[in-house]
Amino acid sequence: MEKMNLSNSQLQLILAKANFSPSGDNSQPWSYVWNQVSLQIFHNSARAQHPLNPQGIASMISLGMLLTAVQIAASEFGFSTTYQLGQMNPENNDFWAQVHFIQTQEKISSLADVLETRSTDRRPYISGNLDRKRLKEPLSQQSVFFPATWHSCGPPSSQLLDYISNAEQLLTDDPHILPATLKWLRFTHSQVQKTKDGMHWSNMGVKFWELPSIPLIRDFPMALKLLRPIVKSQNKFRIEDQLKSSSELICVSIPDSTQSSLNKSTIVKAGGLMMELWLSLNKMGFGVQPLTIVSTFAFSIKHGLSPASTKWKHFFETGEALLKNEFSIATNNTPIWIVRTGKSPGLSISMRTLRMAPILKIIE
Ligand SMILES: Cc1cc2nc3c(=O)[nH]c(=O)nc-3n(C[C@H](O)[C@H](O)[C@H](O)COP(=O)(O)O)c2cc1C
Repeated sequence: MEKMNLSNSQLQLILAKANFSPSGDNSQPWSYVWNQVSLQIFHNSARAQHPLNPQGIASMISLGMLLTAVQIAASEFGFSTTYQLGQMNPENNDFWAQVHFIQTQEKISSLADVLETRSTDRRPYISGNLDRKRLKEPLSQQSVFFPATWHSCGPPSSQLLDYISNAEQLLTDDPHILPATLKWLRFTHSQVQKTKDGMHWSNMGVKFWELPSIPLIRDFPMALKLLRPIVKSQNKFRIEDQLKSSSELICVSIPDSTQSSLNKSTIVKAGGLMMELWLSLNKMGFGVQPLTIVSTFAFSIKHGLSPASTKWKHFFETGEALLKNEFSIATNNTPIWIVRTGKSPGLSISMRTLRMAPILKIIE
């Protein structure tokens, strides 16, 4: 196969930037092999294992974001990218994607300067309307992500707010989700510096006085049974505050499929599209926070990829009709990922999540 003109050091610089791409709980489940022809991206299923990531669906979204980040970072060196996907089976160790770099005369992506500063902002936002037209401008290449499409719905209606805040209660109703998430919570800045993964508690919208209960629930999941009523009501206040302060909710949808015909490549595209939206929103001074339970996890339940009680199945089924109505989503499409957004001063450097150095093997 023909060698690429991309040098090892250029590849390393591209990865150093793309590495700031987000992953669930900042778990950073990726590693890379560069064989001078293509960049192979591998998925670490142990790091990605999470009840909210059944069959690697959330990882597929994450991969889409990473591929878009690689493409944007490569544009700074005069390269465009193409990719092929692997089987994306969370159980085996095959590569999930293979990227090729092609020399191009195209301009540097206008989103390149936000790759390293993009962040998840879980604080309440400040007032200010989103200029949707401006948001569309950097997305001129939207056809790249077809058939994934995006929709926005303005500030959430009271019905939508209730639905999302009730959906978020799954966090405390389910005995596994909260402990799995708390595993990634870091309590001190020195812990953050040491692991360079996970999230510092101060970024999570957690109140100082809630802190002592966190290691308790993390280390003794039985404690969640006792503390559930308090944690639940705190969680409800938090999500309602977050939603009420949001000027817009944004949803990415994909064509309907069944479990047997699940179109993984479209899920990856949905992630890629959301990455462009997220970068554009941050560039415009808007904060972004994903709402995964009500969207990606509901999608996984609908497709039988995650066990759920009849109560929750029914809840999400009814909710999908509401989401389609609020976001004006075509009947043959299904929501796959929702984020909330609103004007925000942006996180200070000390509040941003860190990244481990990319795990890269170079074959000469
Ligand atoms: C697929 C996916 C799902 C996520 N779901 C949530 C979520 O439900 N709630 C939330 O607050 N953050 C969520 N996040 C944000 C991650 O926790 C965040 O990206 C990660 O900690 C890195 O932080 P950063 O985005 O500030 O770089 C999600 C991110 C990804 C990629």
